[in-house]
Amino acid sequence: MIIKVLGSAAGGGFPQWNCNCSNCAAVRQGAPGFTARTQSSLAVSRDGTDWVLLNTSPDLREQLNRTPELGSKSNGGLRNSPIKAAVLTNGDVDHITGLINLREMEPLAVYGSGRVLAVLANNSIFNVLNAEKVARRDLPLGTSTALHSADGDLGLTVEAFAVPGKVALYLEDASKGSDFGTEEGDTIGLKVSDPKSGKAFFYVPGCADVDKDLAARLNGAELVFFDGTLFEDSEMIAAGLSAKTGKRMGHISMSGPDGSIAAFENLGVNRKVYVHINNSNPVLDENSNARRQAETSGWEIGFDGMEIRI
Ligand code: MLT
Ligand code: MN
Ligand code: ZN
Repeated sequence: MIIKVLGSAAGGGFPQWNCNCSNCAAVRQGAPGFTARTQSSLAVSRDGTDWVLLNTSPDLREQLNRTPELGSKSNGGLRNSPIKAAVLTNGDVDHITGLINLREMEPLAVYGSGRVLAVLANNSIFNVLNAEKVARRDLPLGTSTALHSADGDLGLTVEAFAVPGKVALYLEDASKGSDFGTEEGDTIGLKVSDPKSGKAFFYVPGCADVDKDLAARLNGAELVFFDGTLFEDSEMIAAGLSAKTGKRMGHISMSGPDGSIAAFENLGVNRKVYVHINNSNPVLDENSNARRQAETSGWEIGFDGMEIRI
């Protein structure tokens, strides 16, 4: 399998359009040790021919333009695209709005949980994806689904599983209590497998907690892309950027006794890569203590254009 990180930043990207925090200011100035990042998405292919997007970010057009593998082929007829399917892990703006870029009457399959497909159904702008060409397929939780394009098997399977998380920000319903109306399927993780090679990796870009189930699932994995939104739960409050903790936003932090660095310490995961990194996160400074701490704990900080083959 070939896996490409199309976008390694969380919602808003890096720098974020309206943000003058120290990280965003530094990357805008071209300071050494800071690299701009687009919003959260991966692409995966079994053989480099047909590709599946894992989440579709608002930056998708920019991401496609700098990823030749994902462009139309010169010998492929007047209209063609190697992108055959997209799999969505939640209904967040950073993960679904890129679908609108894929609207030019190209056959495509869009996979998501029932909850996320309902978000698409309830937002009529997604009807620009012509239903005659673009199938919307339910991804059942806890079972393996073979991914299919409009005309055939893509040679990859996906197992979707619920992870601790929160309903998308714009769907929060305060009248429904402290979980804001969150239901199973609002946030999922994916295990993507190539049945031919027996290889598999996990993609969990949004996750509030590594609970027992998730730890057991990830134990011994060859490769995990994981939620790297914040370094410290209260970093956005400390920086004066927001009144919300990471926990309130449905994101586990990297550091601390409840953090992902600690949670993965004994899981025996061969390669651990942070993605969905928020612009407030100090690991975005290559020379920071936070960056050193993450890296000495065996984590890689994902970057746009990162490619991993397994
Ligand atoms: C999140 O991951 O918490 C969201 O993408 C935040 C947002 O909507 O920007
Ligand atoms: Mn997000
Ligand atoms: Zn910022």
